[in-house]
Amino acid sequence: MPTLIAPSLLAADFGNLERDCNIVNNSTADWFHIDIMDGVFVPNISFGMPVLAAIQQHAKKPLDVHLMIVEPDRYIKTFHKLGAEILTVHLEACKHLHRNIQEIKSFGMKAGVALNPHTSIELLKDSIQDIDLVCLMSVNPGFGGQSFIKNTFAKTKELSQLIEETNSSCLIEIDGGVTNQNAAQLIKCGADVLVAGSHVFKSENPLEKIKTLKNII
Ligand code: DX5
Ligand code: ZN
Repeated sequence: MPTLIAPSLLAADFGNLERDCNIVNNSTADWFHIDIMDGVFVPNISFGMPVLAAIQQHAKKPLDVHLMIVEPDRYIKTFHKLGAEILTVHLEACKHLHRNIQEIKSFGMKAGVALNPHTSIELLKDSIQDIDLVCLMSVNPGFGGQSFIKNTFAKTKELSQLIEETNSSCLIEIDGGVTNQNAAQLIKCGADVLVAGSHVFKSENPLEKIKTLKNII
């Protein structure tokens, strides 16, 4: 399967959101990655429902919504209404992960589970069969523009092995500090989806950066 590219709008210019949505629409990227932060689960607040509604008006590709919020179960229905096709909750934020995954799927969305850099792959053993996507955080969640944590390579391999052993069809997404410097190695380790914020939107030529990431292997 070709690697999927999901530019993160967190690094977009919010004064020109329509323009930046169109960059993704007109690029070889596959999904829009949308980072929702509540200032409690992570030490930053990004944006909420009204901004996502504006994005929904302009985006012509699937919305991959990454919830960095406590009690994400309170908002599953809302994010469905706002057009999320993939809805990712953090394992660390869910007391009843199994129930939350089932509820996401009951709305017809793909269910994603994100792991912080310190969270072990082992904890996914009993739910991997039910999950559509695991998002491995390769930075501590909360901010764009941070440096990639190298232990993610080993974690990606370990997750890839678990998926193979259990015959799961779950995708591996890598989120944080992804650039054309680490993309090839991530893909070799088993990554299926690469999220990239700053690397794309803080560059002179976002379309070119997306194209390069898409064609890396
Ligand atoms: C971090 C977010 C990431 C972020 C990636 O908390 O989950 O999606 O936007 O940004 P870069 O690519 O700049 O690290
Ligand atoms: Zn994210």
